[in-house]
Amino acid sequence: MTDLPETNTVMVTLVKPEGQLEVYFERRPMPEPKPHEVLVKVLTTPINPSDLGLLFGGADMTTARAGTRDGLPTITADVPPAGMRAMGGRIGDALAIGNEGCGLVVKAGASPEAQALVGKTVALLGGEMYAEYRCLPVQMVMPLPDGTDPVDGASCFVNPLTSLAFTETMRMENHSAIVHTAAASNLGQMLVKICAKDGIPLVNIVRSDAQVEILKAIGAQHIVNSSADDFMERLVDAITETGATIGFDAIGGGKLAGQILAAMEAAAVRSMTGYRRYGSDTFKQVYIYGALDLSPTTFSARSFGLTWSLSGFLLTPFLQKAGMETNLRLRKRVVDELTTTFKSHYSHEISLTDALDLDTAQAYNAKRTGEKYLIRPHG
Ligand SMILES: NC(=O)c1ccc[n+]([C@@H]2O[C@H](COP(=O)([O-])OP(=O)(O)OC[C@H]3O[C@@H](n4cnc5c(N)ncnc54)[C@H](OP(=O)(O)O)[C@@H]3O)[C@@H](O)[C@H]2O)c1
Repeated sequence: MTDLPETNTVMVTLVKPEGQLEVYFERRPMPEPKPHEVLVKVLTTPINPSDLGLLFGGADMTTARAGTRDGLPTITADVPPAGMRAMGGRIGDALAIGNEGCGLVVKAGASPEAQALVGKTVALLGGEMYAEYRCLPVQMVMPLPDGTDPVDGASCFVNPLTSLAFTETMRMENHSAIVHTAAASNLGQMLVKICAKDGIPLVNIVRSDAQVEILKAIGAQHIVNSSADDFMERLVDAITETGATIGFDAIGGGKLAGQILAAMEAAAVRSMTGYRRYGSDTFKQVYIYGALDLSPTTFSARSFGLTWSLSGFLLTPFLQKAGMETNLRLRKRVVDELTTTFKSHYSHEISLTDALDLDTAQAYNAKRTGEKYLIRPHG
């Protein structure tokens, strides 16, 4: 194509050895697709909590200040010693950001698979989406039906596939109902809709009455507010009613993961006929899959019995383990239900340069319920 610009503006994040993080734009040469690659004009890309983890890393954002580089905005913040230790592996590397997006294939390599995608609207996975253009192998793009709105195509992978991965994991590990935290999140609302459609009982833990109302409005059956005085009793009741023995915790820090295990054990003990000195023999699993609270995870295992597990969960290893057939099945479901089950709502649409406006960045970095930002690199 002759009308492509010579350079591609890409947002990068850099941790400097002197203890500062800088986010800025680089103008890189326009990539040339190899035979099995396509060049995509990025039309939409969401700002998810997982992007923010890379974008601002362990920086203290209360020290963040605005600047400019080559006429484009920058944000710089100090990184405390603990953050520098945590980010030791990336010091000095300017990393491009943005896990997923949607765009138009404007150029393709010579292979028939790549050529077949020219002119198609595609969903994109593979990082580096906070850019005007992205060059990717064909297997990292998913063609979307003709006429798909790029806003609907922006978040096809991270939250839809993770919420589906929860129900797949539930089945693979022989559980029959799920507990989920930060449940009014974008991902949480998708999980509510999947579980309703698939007949899976779901206990939703939220932290405010407003979030209770959001979930009620989309048909959630079991909602427990962690700020209520009777939270633990209500949680045990909901777990007893649903039989949930697997939980997915987006919060990570604090005591909630332990409270879920304790509530699962209390529910299991309710159905026991006699006393067992080592607790119930019901296996209880909680996966921590997010870090919305960065404080230490604290729990007392004394109230869990001895048949439990607390571990981490990440989408990519799940997909690798699940195999090609499952991957294709899940992707197909996402495309089929893109504007219903997996519809994301964006409260703000911003340009690439707006994304490095300091006030805007502080607002999206707060990760508030219902405040999801969408970048439109081409306006
Ligand atoms: N492991 C994986 O593979 C994977 C994949 C996808 C997503 N995730 C994780 O999934 C989570 C949800 O993502 P999303 O895009 O759906 O988020 P989102 O729509 O931006 O929503 C974030 C939610 O988290 C709540 N929240 C923020 N800080 C909290 C805290 N300290 N304690 C309790 N609740 C808190 C917010 O509620 P308030 O309004 O009350 O603050 C809001 O409801 C994130 O943690 C993300 O990293 C993980």
